[in-house]
Amino acid sequence: MKTAKKAAAKKSKTPAKKSAPRKAATATKRAMPKKAAPKKAAAKKAAPKKSASRMQSMDDQSMLREFFIDSLKDIYWAEKHLTKALPKMQRAATSEELKTAFEEHLAQTEEQIQRLEQVFEIMGEPAKAKKCDAMEGLTKEAQSIIEETEKGTATRDVALIMAAQKVEHYEIATYGGLAQLAATLGLEDAKELLGMTLQEEKDTDENLTAIAENDINIQAAEEDEDEEDEEEEEDDEDMEDDEDSDDEDEEEDDDM
Ligand SMILES: [Fe+2]
Ligand SMILES: [Fe+2]
Repeated sequence: MKTAKKAAAKKSKTPAKKSAPRKAATATKRAMPKKAAPKKAAAKKAAPKKSASRMQSMDDQSMLREFFIDSLKDIYWAEKHLTKALPKMQRAATSEELKTAFEEHLAQTEEQIQRLEQVFEIMGEPAKAKKCDAMEGLTKEAQSIIEETEKGTATRDVALIMAAQKVEHYEIATYGGLAQLAATLGLEDAKELLGMTLQEEKDTDENLTAIAENDINIQAAEEDEDEEDEEEEEDDEDMEDDEDSDDEDEEEDDDM
């Protein structure tokens, strides 16, 4: 029996011994053989921390979910607001290409609103809009551009494109973040829907750049040159007017 016990003891010790030399080997390499033991103790202590961190991550998860829904409400308001702003921008634009771009993006925006409603549904939440101050500011800026620029000019179109691109960039940042959040929360369908909209916003941004680069910026620069020429001509006329003023006075006298 004793021998059997010894054998059993030896057997049970063997795996421990086997792992021990490995640690010792690595330890010897580092010339710090005693550090292997405290590591085991640290691992034991880490166990209760794990469940605490699990609870923490559950808190984080629900906080993240709340933030996700809040951000959805924000962009939902923004998109709805854009369905009112885009027709105004379309009417204010001069270039047919730009008018078409705004018209097409209005149709896309309406689809994007429906996609957001689908995401709300996935979350089991009612689709609610929460005022987005950033989008309100961006569309106000577009409105003041319309008021401050002349109708029918390429300069107004350039300014409208810039205003529209600021909107697109805001949307790209928002949808990029939302798609990432959906992935983190394990919401694959939501991620896909948000990703589709993200791509549309990126395409719109690129299209606006192309419209500006192809035609409108050049026209606006020419407009600027024309304006400078006109100003110079006006100056010349003013000088001529001064010279002629005496004659005009005489003519006026004749009329009377
Ligand atoms: Fe949008
Ligand atoms: Fe957009």
